[in-house]
Amino acid sequence: MLERLIHGNSPDNQSIMTLMTGFGVFAVVVAAVIFLACAYFIYRYSASGHPSEVPFQRDEAEGALEVKFGIFALCTVIVLGLISVKLIWRMDSEGGEAEQKPDIEIVGHQWWWEIRYPQSGVVTANVACLPKGRKMKVAIRSADVVHDWWVPGLGRKMDAVPGRTNTFTMEANETGQYEGACNEFCGAQHAWMRILVKVVEPEEYQKWLEHEGQDAEPPGGESAQRGAQLFQSYSCASCHQIRGTDAHAHIGPDLTHLASRPTLFAGMQPYSRQAIKDWLRDPQKIKPGAYMPNFVFSDTELEDLSSYLDGLK
Ligand code: CUA
Repeated sequence: MLERLIHGNSPDNQSIMTLMTGFGVFAVVVAAVIFLACAYFIYRYSASGHPSEVPFQRDEAEGALEVKFGIFALCTVIVLGLISVKLIWRMDSEGGEAEQKPDIEIVGHQWWWEIRYPQSGVVTANVACLPKGRKMKVAIRSADVVHDWWVPGLGRKMDAVPGRTNTFTMEANETGQYEGACNEFCGAQHAWMRILVKVVEPEEYQKWLEHEGQDAEPPGGESAQRGAQLFQSYSCASCHQIRGTDAHAHIGPDLTHLASRPTLFAGMQPYSRQAIKDWLRDPQKIKPGAYMPNFVFSDTELEDLSSYLDGLK
């Protein structure tokens, strides 16, 4: 991840890293001057080396040296601030016209990310897909508290603020997986609000969109069919959506293609049927504080439900 961070695979990431490196070098130079001056004065005016000499006393009326230093520091802060603001403005201006519809909508939830592709009706969670080499306009908001979307390899961070929509862009020059995380403390499971962005070739992106846009696979096999009935009869359907069924809620993550995601519970575990079962048995044991209630399912029910959910490819 560090390697990705430093080399940068997106234009925004490159600009940010260039700016950061410049600031870093400047800070090192300033620190070096200060430390060298300290060392010189310690040596030059040490009491042991110059027992008889009266230390240098500055004439108060000579001119306010402190004011000069103060002005220098203030100018430095203003110049560095302007350079940063200019970069932010440039990135903002590249976000397209205000009326241009976003390619992706992100909604921060405690503690997962809802990711929507409004132009194709796709809704997914925690794992986003981007086509390589295309600047995607993103609109981000929150369903509860302030979250912060940050995928370092793809550039800037953006807060998800309740009652407000922020926009930014994401673009990558290279295919691959880009990891990120929520970067604003948002409660008990803040640390487990991971992000995975898959950057793929444009053709593959189209295929992904088509697949994600389809309704859920009907349950195959008796166990999965029983699972599908359980899903509708328990209150699963009042929080989750599975497109192509009667479940249309958006309180919890959309599960239409759950089994095709590489991870579960916002990046906590790699995808597996066993992990789904463990989760259904006791969600609080895996993710304390999560809003998924414990339904106390029987072993047969766990078998059937996990069989159904595992078929949602
Ligand atoms: Cu969401 Cu921290």
